[in-house]
Amino acid sequence: MVEQQLAQLASLCADCRNCPLADTRTQVVFGVGNPHAPVLFVGEGPGEQEDLQGSPFVGPAGKLLDDYLTVIDLDRTKCYIANIVKCRPPHNRDPKPEEQDACLGWLREQVRIIRPKIIVCLGRIAAQKLIDPAFRVTRQHGQFINKKGTLMMGTFHPSALLRNPENRPAALEDFVALRTRLLEYEAEQSGEEIG
Ligand code: URA
Repeated sequence: MVEQQLAQLASLCADCRNCPLADTRTQVVFGVGNPHAPVLFVGEGPGEQEDLQGSPFVGPAGKLLDDYLTVIDLDRTKCYIANIVKCRPPHNRDPKPEEQDACLGWLREQVRIIRPKIIVCLGRIAAQKLIDPAFRVTRQHGQFINKKGTLMMGTFHPSALLRNPENRPAALEDFVALRTRLLEYEAEQSGEEIG
């Protein structure tokens, strides 16, 4: 059911022409992963490799993201991964506010269908769009905020960690904190099933 709903949404999204990024994309990068997973990661937008392959975080930043996922016993079968904008901004520039707004409906629908318990914003663009327009990653990373029953957390973007490796230990702490939250959630769920 959830798979079917997402597949329908993905096929509508594949034809999206809501903003000019549609003119320069190779393909829409809708999202990948397990739609039943409790955690959704949201990046900024596809880069070159993602645009070519149609899947999020498959370039160098994706390799680093996979490493962080592995450390906390996650992989792409145990989470869902999407982006704020589904089409590559030319030359990997930041997506413009109007492009983000034009695209956000797709992510909202993904969230409505997947109903993640935790949303992790990878980088400033996602955190400012989904958590707080004034979000500062260096100051607020790793803080969990409850928004209408969904826990939201912002952390460093993997591309930023490639450029500034000195932030990697702090990012690792955020992922470890995420693991703690996920374990708490799983314990709650199994308690409910038993009780
Ligand atoms: N950077 C992002 O924000 N998203 C991707 O999918 C790849 C790189």
